[in-house]
Amino acid sequence: MLVSLKEYAEACGRSADTARRLAEQGKLLSAKKIGRNWVVDNAEEYPFDRKKWTVASLFSGCGGLDLGFVGGFDFLGTNYPEQPFEIVWANEINAAACRTYRYNLGEIKQGDVYDVMETLPESVDVVIGGFPCQDISINGKMKGIKGKRSSLYTAIVEAVKRTNPKVFVAENVGSLFLKTNSESFKKIVEDFGALGYKLDVHRYDSSEYGVPQTRDRVFIVGVREDMFYAAPEPSTAGAPITAKQAIDDLKEREWDPAFAHIWSKAKRSGEQGNRHLVADRPGYTIRAECHGNIQYHYDLPRRISMREAARIQSFPDTFAFVSGLRETERQIGNAVPPVLAWQIARSVAMTLGGVTQDGSGAIRAVAG
Ligand SMILES: C[S@@+](CC[C@H](N)C(=O)[O-])C[C@H]1O[C@@H](n2cnc3c(N)ncnc32)[C@H](O)[C@@H]1O
Repeated sequence: MLVSLKEYAEACGRSADTARRLAEQGKLLSAKKIGRNWVVDNAEEYPFDRKKWTVASLFSGCGGLDLGFVGGFDFLGTNYPEQPFEIVWANEINAAACRTYRYNLGEIKQGDVYDVMETLPESVDVVIGGFPCQDISINGKMKGIKGKRSSLYTAIVEAVKRTNPKVFVAENVGSLFLKTNSESFKKIVEDFGALGYKLDVHRYDSSEYGVPQTRDRVFIVGVREDMFYAAPEPSTAGAPITAKQAIDDLKEREWDPAFAHIWSKAKRSGEQGNRHLVADRPGYTIRAECHGNIQYHYDLPRRISMREAARIQSFPDTFAFVSGLRETERQIGNAVPPVLAWQIARSVAMTLGGVTQDGSGAIRAVAG
């Protein structure tokens, strides 16, 4: 039930001023302002008393999804506060992605997911993973789940069986919803559904969630039968962050490998390779396997730099990519935008904390 901050603070034996400060800092998950007054779900545990929920992360890449779950970063002047999650196990096969992950987020097991599955903890609160999408993406070979890489979603299914989490989050490309992929989609939802969780299958346009990019992604969130999940509400629908707002300050900046401000000099090519960003619109989807044919700057006679691509993907400037141009391109293009991931993680935190965004326990877009 939504109550005033004063009532909430009193019930927790804390001062209203401290509760207000926590609300303003975004540390009270369910707090929102109605007119001039803050309200908060009285089911929410006081943030200082809250333990961190444990997370196992599969197919972690450089850590875009994981950064959203950890939180505590700034992007284009907005602070995305720390989240009540701790990543206790992560895995990725690509060595360069692991280097970047370690530098920014911490320990990760490098290797094939099935080779390290035995090292999973006996139980965790949350399992997350963006399973490889090349066989499903419209830019891939469209073999669907018969392709070797996308059938790897079964590793997430297996990890859920082994660790019995309260919540799992599986991410993939929006084209999972295409007719050509309908068989794959049906099978994936069936397999996740058979785990005995309530499923929320939701398609997100990243540009509606504070990301300067029209990246289209699907999240399948499974929650235990006794829990409620409400997908995050769009935060920038109708007023997306534009490419210019995201990267204009980097225009005069010189080539700077330490800041990943390096760009491909690949010649013009077909498909995405000839596209130019449009200054007053969000960017196009940043791809992983574009072989240097990333989109051009809207003003400059060059392709966008890796740091600019990272901005379009909503990575904070403090996130370092510990690899050369091609591997960095792959890591950025593969990632879940951290700002979108942060909003999903927040909804998951509310689920685990027994509160939902609107305080009503409503679940949207249930499939299964
Ligand atoms: C879509 S990306 C995930 C990106 C990540 N979620 C992020 O936000 O940065 C999929 C990742 O799975 C990794 N991968 C592919 N096959 C794998 C395997 N057999 N075992 C472990 N990781 C694998 C790829 O190297 C790639 O980094």
